[in-house]
Amino acid sequence: MRFGIRTLDEASLRGKTVLCRVDINQPVDRETGTLKSINRIAACVPTIRELSDKGAKVVLLAHQGSDIEYKNFYTTKPHAAVLERLLRKPVQWIDDVCGPAAREKIKALKDGEILLLDNVRFVSEEQTLFEKKLRLTHEQQAKTLLVEKLAPLADLYVCDAFAAAHRDQPSLCGFEQVLPSYMGRLFEKEYCTVSQVMEAPERPCVFVLGGAKIADAFEMMNTVLERGVADRVLTGGLVSNIFLASQGKPVGQGSLDFIARSNYSEYIEKAAALYARFGSKIQLPEDLAWVEDGARREAALSQLPGDITALDIGSATADAYARVIQDAKTVFVNGPMGVFEKAETELGTKTVWQALAGTPGFTVLGGGDSITATEKYDLTEKMGYICTGGGALIRFLSGEELPVVKALRHGANIPESKVR
Ligand code: 3PG
Repeated sequence: MRFGIRTLDEASLRGKTVLCRVDINQPVDRETGTLKSINRIAACVPTIRELSDKGAKVVLLAHQGSDIEYKNFYTTKPHAAVLERLLRKPVQWIDDVCGPAAREKIKALKDGEILLLDNVRFVSEEQTLFEKKLRLTHEQQAKTLLVEKLAPLADLYVCDAFAAAHRDQPSLCGFEQVLPSYMGRLFEKEYCTVSQVMEAPERPCVFVLGGAKIADAFEMMNTVLERGVADRVLTGGLVSNIFLASQGKPVGQGSLDFIARSNYSEYIEKAAALYARFGSKIQLPEDLAWVEDGARREAALSQLPGDITALDIGSATADAYARVIQDAKTVFVNGPMGVFEKAETELGTKTVWQALAGTPGFTVLGGGDSITATEKYDLTEKMGYICTGGGALIRFLSGEELPVVKALRHGANIPESKVR
């Protein structure tokens, strides 16, 4: 038991049916149906291998993409093929989550076999909408279709999805109410490492918040500033475009149209309110970059052409951020500074990432895109700690008890003897 949660050391697995929730949510190339990165799949291989090697019938539950905000649900089929390659073991897959076909397949599993179910978010109860509009208690989550249909087929529940530990959803918090529960090896490593760093973060403590996950970024920023965790927040990506717009600074009509099209206009007001309270700690770009005729262009905000779409921070901003990072004692990073996947718009992310690799401070990076950028620049070995979670990491850092941690602590009290 660590932090009140059972580890796999305490589980007896042979012949048991284990529901294992993983977070293998990866960027998908929708044109080819392939995964652009496989780091999260690789990260949960040790847990899956251990469960299978110890003779469990392994049923993997996972989400891919998100619903309301990002509208990018996708099947988990490509993940099964990747997993099979990494594990060097067959991984079965079914285009069902908890219907009769999935249940039959689970019942037919033999010891050591692995089955990946389709995207759990295809089941409406699992949608992230819950968090905003219809928050179910963990007891209520235990009564959802997903849990009621799958839990009776299983002996144990294992959660290895630290990256989704901030999500309050049935596949993450419902099973712990009815099944003896454990954290997987990845969850254990991530939760324990980050807990230790956070016990006494050295100051100054800087947060680098970029990317396009706006709801998360704003919630995190608010909390880490309000609770005094962050001494400074460096902004990039869509986050900084929204902040600049909130201050009436030029970001280009294309950027404003993008914000409106993505239904993020309400965040301009939220950014204004946050900036009014914490402006001295929030650092915004002084220049921005865009692409014109296939080439990178940059300008200081005051010189910015009216119609552009900003796709990266400018080089003066990147250098200023690098200096702040160099002097920081602890840096938490979530989200890139721009569209780093393209050569014309990677400079901001690349400069900031190189500064992270070079700072004597302790760096903690989280989130799929942050990890992808780290791999792209071959800096994995130079970072302090790389966490598969973005939102989960920052939510944890803000001092909140993560819903999944709470649920796993509850599930640690369900005796294995109660197993069917
Ligand atoms: C993540 O990508 O941060 C996790 O997989 C959680 O995904 P979500 O933000 O769509 O809930």
